[in-house]
Amino acid sequence: MSTVSEGLDGVVAAVTNLSQVDGEAGRLIVRGRDIEELAAEFDFADMAALLWDELAPGPVDAAAIRRDLGLARQRAAEFLPKLLPAARGLSPIEGLRAGLALFSDTDCDHLLLCAAAPVFTAALWRQGQGETPIAPNPGLGQAEDFLAMLTGAQVDAGAARALECYLVTVADHGLNASTFTARVVASTRAGIVSSVVAALCALKGPLHGGAPGPVLDMLDEIGDLDGVQPWLERQFAAGERLMGFGHRVYRTRDPRADVLKGVVADLRGGPNRIALAEAVEAAILAQLAARYPDRRLDTNVEFYTALALEAVGLPRELFTLAFAMGRVLGWTAHIFEQEQSGRIIRPASRYTGPVPAGRILAAVAG
Ligand code: ACO
Repeated sequence: MSTVSEGLDGVVAAVTNLSQVDGEAGRLIVRGRDIEELAAEFDFADMAALLWDELAPGPVDAAAIRRDLGLARQRAAEFLPKLLPAARGLSPIEGLRAGLALFSDTDCDHLLLCAAAPVFTAALWRQGQGETPIAPNPGLGQAEDFLAMLTGAQVDAGAARALECYLVTVADHGLNASTFTARVVASTRAGIVSSVVAALCALKGPLHGGAPGPVLDMLDEIGDLDGVQPWLERQFAAGERLMGFGHRVYRTRDPRADVLKGVVADLRGGPNRIALAEAVEAAILAQLAARYPDRRLDTNVEFYTALALEAVGLPRELFTLAFAMGRVLGWTAHIFEQEQSGRIIRPASRYTGPVPAGRILAAVAG
């Protein structure tokens, strides 16, 4: 009888040369380079060049991608008159989902998908504030242009660099839930837009990319250092999960947490609750260690994502959309890889329902 792996723990479902998550060592390698090094040196276009190399059609050097992304942001802005009226009343993440779904699988390319995420996010947010969209500036980098389109103000260079660093840090991470979703849909040959929209739907959930907004809610509720223990006791009594902690693969600290903690530390001028966050983190880790002595639960990327994105000046309602702005790079690279080399992804299930009288059921059926 085949073994059932609920949640597919430990199942290797794809062969990739894009990224490797070493859960024991707490190490993330993207195409042969450690994430710490990439976060320090790369911007979004450099990361695109790294991930799309030998996979994507068209130029894959960073300078050409930087230029083409700027032009693609202008192409994406042409869809706003269609998107904005349709997105009234939707949350920002639902609005982004609607926006990406406007594209055609036959006409849209990976550059337009990557460019649309910041253009749509900024315009959707401004619409919610009663403001009109700001046109993209193709001469700016991805993060700086996003912040300019969002705020309409002069962008602080430190904030733009911090956001580039964030986008690079979260761009790819093995076969996480959203990337797996992208590969499943790509394996059916549904097309790049369908695959990316499906991935965004998976990212939306609070157990995946929806966690950082609730991390800030948690810090707000805790308030100050005296509030940590009573709040934790209430959470555990209610059986709630603590956002920003635990991971399917890491049995140690998520290396991206420290990269982003460094981003927060460098942005001391902005809203910055690093002292409270460190105290909350230490208290939560102690409680998790006491409650789950056999299962190491540590800080994941989302905890310091919340602080980094807050320090950059983003409203918490946009945190998952910012994650999508970075992760769309990994999704598109995995979609290309899946389309080039993968078989249709079709696992089996074990049936536990009733069987017609007189029939014997095979142990595992599709
Ligand atoms: N808070 C409280 N308890 C937890 C947490 C947490 N954050 N994480 C795991 N646990 C508990 C589980 O409930 C489980 O307890 P049980 O055996 O009594 O049911 C036990 O620890 C073991 O859980 P795991 O097998 O380690 O967790 P799993 O791999 O199924 O889930 C996940 C991983 C979804 C990330 C989980 O840790 C979680 O819900 N974390 C909070 C949400 C979060 O931060 N998500 C972002 C993850 S990073 C990313 O996706 C970008």
